[in-house]
Amino acid sequence: MHLLSASCACALLIHALFYQVTSTENVHGTYGETIEIPCKPSKSVEEENILMVKWKYENGQGLSEDLIVKKPDQDAWKSAQNAFKDRVSLAANYSLLLSAIRLTDQGRFICLLVTLQDILEYKTILEVIKSPAGLEMLDKAEELEIGKLTQLGVCTAKDANPAADIMWLKNNQPLVDDGKGIFITQSVKEDPVTLSSTTTSTLKYSAKKEDDGAEFICRTKHTVEEHASSPITITVTYSTETIELHVTPQDSLVEGDNMTLKCVADGNPAPTSFNFHLKGETVKVENKNTLTIANVTRDASGEYRCSLVDDRGLEAFKNITVNYLDFNLSPSGRIVQVAGQALEVTLQINSSAPHSVSWKKNDDILDKEPKFHKISYSDSAVYECEVTLGPLSRKASFELVVEGAPVISSLSKQRSDDSDRKVLICEAEGNPKPAVTWNINGTLLYESPFTNGKILQKFAVVPSENLTVQCIVSNKFGSDSKSIDVLPLQLKTVKIEYTDKQGSRDQTKLVVGVVLGLLVATVLIGLAYWLYLKKSKQGSWKTAENENGTSEEEKKLEEKVEENSQKAEV
Ligand SMILES: *[C@@H]1O[C@H](CO)[C@@H](O)[C@H](O)[C@H]1NC(C)=O
Ligand SMILES: *[C@@H]1O[C@H](CO)[C@@H](O)[C@H](O)[C@H]1NC(C)=O
Ligand SMILES: *[C@@H]1O[C@H](CO)[C@@H](O)[C@H](O)[C@H]1NC(C)=O
Ligand SMILES: *[C@@H]1O[C@H](CO)[C@@H](O)[C@H](O)[C@H]1NC(C)=O
Ligand SMILES: *[C@@H]1O[C@H](CO)[C@@H](O)[C@H](O)[C@H]1NC(C)=O
Ligand SMILES: *[C@@H]1O[C@H](CO)[C@@H](O)[C@H](O)[C@H]1NC(C)=O
Ligand SMILES: *[C@@H]1O[C@H](CO)[C@@H](O)[C@H](O)[C@H]1NC(C)=O
Repeated sequence: MHLLSASCACALLIHALFYQVTSTENVHGTYGETIEIPCKPSKSVEEENILMVKWKYENGQGLSEDLIVKKPDQDAWKSAQNAFKDRVSLAANYSLLLSAIRLTDQGRFICLLVTLQDILEYKTILEVIKSPAGLEMLDKAEELEIGKLTQLGVCTAKDANPAADIMWLKNNQPLVDDGKGIFITQSVKEDPVTLSSTTTSTLKYSAKKEDDGAEFICRTKHTVEEHASSPITITVTYSTETIELHVTPQDSLVEGDNMTLKCVADGNPAPTSFNFHLKGETVKVENKNTLTIANVTRDASGEYRCSLVDDRGLEAFKNITVNYLDFNLSPSGRIVQVAGQALEVTLQINSSAPHSVSWKKNDDILDKEPKFHKISYSDSAVYECEVTLGPLSRKASFELVVEGAPVISSLSKQRSDDSDRKVLICEAEGNPKPAVTWNINGTLLYESPFTNGKILQKFAVVPSENLTVQCIVSNKFGSDSKSIDVLPLQLKTVKIEYTDKQGSRDQTKLVVGVVLGLLVATVLIGLAYWLYLKKSKQGSWKTAENENGTSEEEKKLEEKVEENSQKAEV
């Protein structure tokens, strides 16, 4: 004690002469750990010149305490009392070692170095860093009503130094107090004993619809480490704002469809029960939002509504039309009509919307509705009518069969290939199939199939004299006939012609003439036959037909067809 006082007095004396203040430094220590506070005078000091080292502590509030003193060749002498007792020691290089540091240790540590020449002082300001003991979110609200300012949570960061700063994040984006929908209040409370601070931050939030499912978290920013609270996910609740009625099928609802009504309403939680108003009737559905009406009819057309079970103010409307198509075609089935008469076709259509009509005659498309003012045999066919309205399509048909007495439409003649026969062609119309007969003996060459009420026969005869050939057609409704004159074959014709020309000559001339004439005729016949053979070899049936009637001679000699009007009146 005495010795110390003496040295102190001595030091004070020296102090007056040589005292010199050196720089100040700051150090940060982590709470609870050991910190080394070095004694680093600005001037380098020779070890052998050191007379004494002393560490002092000042807390800036009037407390000043000597901690440790050391003289060469002596053990360090710890004078620390109270809080520092047992926690201070001195390293060989005069650093002060302070263990288990507390917030209350904060202050100035002064190293005093007395040498032969100087008294050197070195100050260190200690700041103790303590990170908060975790971060906790309390008073959480996970269900927020839309637009209503609600306290979402309170975050607390306890016992930190310096005080922790708390921030809030929504979906990892920091939130800033905007004075409207976001209010963040932060307060700090210091413990007077431990000097640590507790920070509390409160978030009040006004949720929007799109915040549904958003994640909120609070986080500290601190020098040593960061802490984050466990996140909360919010649900934004709101009542139904819109309601819609959907109908499927959407556009082309037709009779027989299953109509599904769907009531679509928003809101969180979404409504689960609905009332469907079906033309005066109310049907309630629970835990679903659809109602199916199977096999609808035209009577189902009308106004439909849907609403929430508990809120009659919200309703959706829709006018629904069930399309239908009725039609009736008259006649129907198989119709047998007599040729020449009229047939009335009526098509009656009742439909919910414009429709299209198409006609077919034996699978051939007609460009307009068939009309029968005077039925002919060619009108015989199956007529089909199709009416279409969107996906609806209806068909009906009738078969028209035309009957009546046969009529010969033409009777003509041709020379046959072998020139000794003549071919007669008789064409007739009628139904049922007419029987065709001829008034003379001959050969039936060909009979066409009976189609569309038409029949054609080719008949060969060998005329030895002028003939009147008659074609007769008949069925159960009556008969018809026509005649045609046929001359004998051409060899005789040429001879007759020659005789006519030479009629008034005298006997001698006649004999010579006959001889010459026979010679010329023989040559002519030979030439004609040669030409004929040549032509018929290269010609077809058509060529032969052309020949018929083009020959000048034949025209002169053959007669006009005599019309027979035995045609039956029906
Ligand atoms: C002083 O000594 C201690 C150990 O005794 C050492 O850890 C420290 O680094 C030294 N300090 C300086 C400033 O040399
Ligand atoms: C309507 O529903 C019934 C029964 O669910 C089903 O058998 C029928 O095929 C449906 N009709 C149409 C046109 O989808
Ligand atoms: C649909 O309704 C019509 C008329 O009401 C009925 O004739 C038909 O059999 C029904 N079809 C089905 C599949 O129920
Ligand atoms: C449905 O139709 C009725 C009468 O045609 C009309 O008065 C009503 O406004 C319509 N409703 C809707 C939702 O279109
Ligand atoms: C069409 O409607 C009229 C009047 O309602 C009715 O007399 C007629 O029979 C209907 N026609 C068809 C083809 O349903
Ligand atoms: C047809 O020939 C038969 C015998 O072949 C004969 O009896 C009949 O008289 C002939 N008819 C005519 C019109 O020539
Ligand atoms: C055949 O008819 C022609 C022309 O009509 C006539 O000139 C001729 O005399 C007739 N022949 C006989 C044998 O009747």
